[in-house]
Amino acid sequence: MHRLGLCCLVLLGLAPLAVAWRPWPPSSAGGAAAGIGVSNKFEGSSEFVKLQYHMGPVLAADITVHPIWYGRWPADQKRTIRAFIRSLSPSGSEGGGGGIPSPSVAAWWRTVRLYTDQTSANVSAVVKLGQEKSDARMSRGAKLSRLDIQSVVRDAVTARTRPLPVDSGGVYLVLTSPEVVVDNFCGQVCGFHYFTFPSVVGYTLPYAWVGNSAQRCPEVCAYPFAIPSYVAGRKPETPPNGDVGVDGMVSVIAHELAELASNPLANAWYAGEDPSFPTEIADLCEGIYGTGGGGAYTGQLLTDRRSGAPYNVNGVGGRKFLVQWVWNPILSYCSGPNALDQ
Ligand SMILES: *[C@@H]1O[C@H](CO)[C@@H](O)[C@H](O)[C@H]1NC(C)=O
Repeated sequence: MHRLGLCCLVLLGLAPLAVAWRPWPPSSAGGAAAGIGVSNKFEGSSEFVKLQYHMGPVLAADITVHPIWYGRWPADQKRTIRAFIRSLSPSGSEGGGGGIPSPSVAAWWRTVRLYTDQTSANVSAVVKLGQEKSDARMSRGAKLSRLDIQSVVRDAVTARTRPLPVDSGGVYLVLTSPEVVVDNFCGQVCGFHYFTFPSVVGYTLPYAWVGNSAQRCPEVCAYPFAIPSYVAGRKPETPPNGDVGVDGMVSVIAHELAELASNPLANAWYAGEDPSFPTEIADLCEGIYGTGGGGAYTGQLLTDRRSGAPYNVNGVGGRKFLVQWVWNPILSYCSGPNALDQ
């Protein structure tokens, strides 16, 4: 997170909870003392990190992710994102890989499952793809504030035809297409999570927003499939599913789901003193996708022999994804299933 950005968001009265990853321009390298900062501090060191449990619940019941497609969403883009969500706990994965080669997306989720609440309940092993809703006509407009995202969720759960169910393990994932502008998108955030207010939605529901950055800032939100100009001499990598914006979103979706599960009501697992600006389990590992990762370096990745695309996890249907690591509370550093030292 940018400190400068945070100050301005405070002035606007906005809580930038769970700001997703963006690459760090050299000038923004401060903040490490507060546990927020350049990611290469964290892969092998816990010196700056004071992740704490604040007594609230984690998502211990089976999780059902309900995507809300806002704006224009071609079918192949939806297929990639659905495949990622289905890969988090594919049927049969309890006993092994569910036929999916290692390292798998389900093995990536195992780090998130290490988080427990005061009843000793772990984050759920089960993450299912639930019902979906589309708002192709963008009924709330092409320019959304943070609060508008709650209205989009409200529209989906109160729709007259096929409303999304309000279930106990439900998580609502608002995905906006490239033409949609969201408060602070690109400048400060690639995604965020929070919970809805009963006064807006009628319920307290964990939700997240992730935007497709393809038109506005792929070099910020879809790194390393697009490269910012201040990173000299690097070529963009090939996205494993052939779509810069969507392959970039996959890692941000993973980031937000990991944080939703471990800090759904902003009172469970985070570092830092201020619950309005928490540093959560995925914030700590932004930009780290493999062993040695940090700064502009992704860490050791695998390469898809057909396309040449880098990836670090396998999913259903032979899919490959590049997903950032998350903080491991037992090891006290960032980890993922493609780590070389496990
Ligand atoms: C639940 O969390 C605890 C504490 O991190 C961990 O030791 C245990 O292995 C976790 N259980 C599962 C099934 O992941």
